[in-house]
Amino acid sequence: MIVYLNGSYLPAERAQLSALDRGFVFGDGVYEVWRVVNGRLFEAERHRERLERGLRELRIGPPDGADADGLRTIAERLLRENGLTEGHATFYVEVTRGVAARTHQFPPAGTRPTIFAYTAKFKPIEQDRRNGVRAITRPDVRWLRCDIKTVQLLPNVLAKQAAVESGAFEAIFIRDGKATEGTHSNLFAVLNGELRTHPANNLILPGITRDVVIELAREQGIAVREEPVTAAELRRCEELFFSGTTTDVLPVVGVDDFAVGNGKPGPVAGALYRGLVARMEGVRAGV
Ligand code: PDD
Repeated sequence: MIVYLNGSYLPAERAQLSALDRGFVFGDGVYEVWRVVNGRLFEAERHRERLERGLRELRIGPPDGADADGLRTIAERLLRENGLTEGHATFYVEVTRGVAARTHQFPPAGTRPTIFAYTAKFKPIEQDRRNGVRAITRPDVRWLRCDIKTVQLLPNVLAKQAAVESGAFEAIFIRDGKATEGTHSNLFAVLNGELRTHPANNLILPGITRDVVIELAREQGIAVREEPVTAAELRRCEELFFSGTTTDVLPVVGVDDFAVGNGKPGPVAGALYRGLVARMEGVRAGV
């Protein structure tokens, strides 16, 4: 596998970083994941804008070569060199505040951010989508800036591991009695025929797939309300599904010890999934 590190393209095993990199020492960095379909980055701009916003919020200077053209060049070369120009893949980019002696405050001016990127083959979830998946609920113990896609993902890692250990696909975070999102996905519910999802504030990552799903729902005439679903409402919603770059639209048929709706994937999730696939393949749903 050929990866990109600070201006060089090289085999993954030769891509080496200083142990003093602030990404390693402090988790002082952000990342982004794009879906790639037949060599094309899906929603390329929206992901890039979210990465830029994260860098701005954390006051990490933009790394050399990571503007729109630079990222496109890196992605195209990695996809080509790794034989990923057909089918599904992902493009991962991480930017940290760079290498410096360990101090909590920012390193000296002029410290160059680290930029690392790789592409990987991706297999869309198929059987689980047809059957629907189970989820567990976990307390949302994350910080209050979940809108920044930082590499500090321990609460997400621990909650996802708890899900896997209980035979579930994902954990739904609950904060103050309300469902926020999954560990690596956003959450939607259908309640009284209306689509509900947590507002894009500091308590969730503003998912790009979430935005696309909301647009598709509006195109399909489905009412959308950006208001959190309470833990109690989870028990009586008609449908529940996750959205995300590596999840697409994934129906949830059970949470903890209860079934969602009739225990089967529902029609709203199905229609939105088909709309998402049509967009990813470059065809607008219904056109
Ligand atoms: N995760 N919420 C969280 C906490 C996430 O980490 C993600 C994505 C999402 C969905 O966002 P998007 O639709 O933009 O992918 C929501 C990526 C895929 C990851 O960590 O691998």
